[in-house]
Amino acid sequence: MDNTNLSSLSVDQDLLERINPVFNTAKMTLFQLASAGDRDAANIADALGLTLEGTQDDATPEELLSNEIILETHFRTMGALAEKSGFPTEVDLPCGYTPRAIEFARKGIRFVGLDLPAAINEAGPIITSLVDEDKRHLVRFEGVDATNYESLKKVFDEIPGEVCITTEGLLMYFTDSEAGELCDNIRRILNQHFIRRPSRSADHEKAERKRRDNQANQ
Ligand SMILES: C[S@@+](CC[C@H](N)C(=O)[O-])C[C@H]1O[C@@H](n2cnc3c(N)ncnc32)[C@H](O)[C@@H]1O
Repeated sequence: MDNTNLSSLSVDQDLLERINPVFNTAKMTLFQLASAGDRDAANIADALGLTLEGTQDDATPEELLSNEIILETHFRTMGALAEKSGFPTEVDLPCGYTPRAIEFARKGIRFVGLDLPAAINEAGPIITSLVDEDKRHLVRFEGVDATNYESLKKVFDEIPGEVCITTEGLLMYFTDSEAGELCDNIRRILNQHFIRRPSRSADHEKAERKRRDNQANQ
């Protein structure tokens, strides 16, 4: 099937949620981030009407606390790394219901959120409505399948310049072959569109080779 235009398909939200239960884990992580005190996450969780009982299964208070700490640490570290990359566009794959679009748009960084259409159909409009109006042009959401190269290529073809791609909370749900597809797809995308090899890095490699040769000859 040619699914290069997944976002434009008419979809049955209930059916999509039943087909892919991983989809609901994104609501679990959003709620954890909101509980950890992230205001943007709390606003999205409110707009979605999320509840503790509806999102956290049977987790004990201790499990909840440790999940929140782990989740917030991942979220902040990944956000800081993406921002520090200095690239003008941050692509989150999969974005789920992350509040990162709101935070990055506030800082003037373009944000492209990619996830399965079931998540994007719901998350896209809600999150975009919470982005400051004068920054909404910086934010975009697209339905993709991370294991399908063509669906990704179509989106990346429209992104000018360099990108930072972040991936959180997906690989553990993938089989080895799906994880391999995802890595291959990202490699192909980076090779075709964004990798620049500045002369500084060529010089660095040359110096590194010379250092290794010298060491070997000692
Ligand atoms: C645990 S959530 C993580 C979401 C977000 N990164 C976070 O940390 O909150 C997993 C996400 O993977 C998405 N997903 C599952 N299979 C996918 C696929 N083949 N392509 C793209 N997204 C996928 C789900 O829809 C869900 O939003």
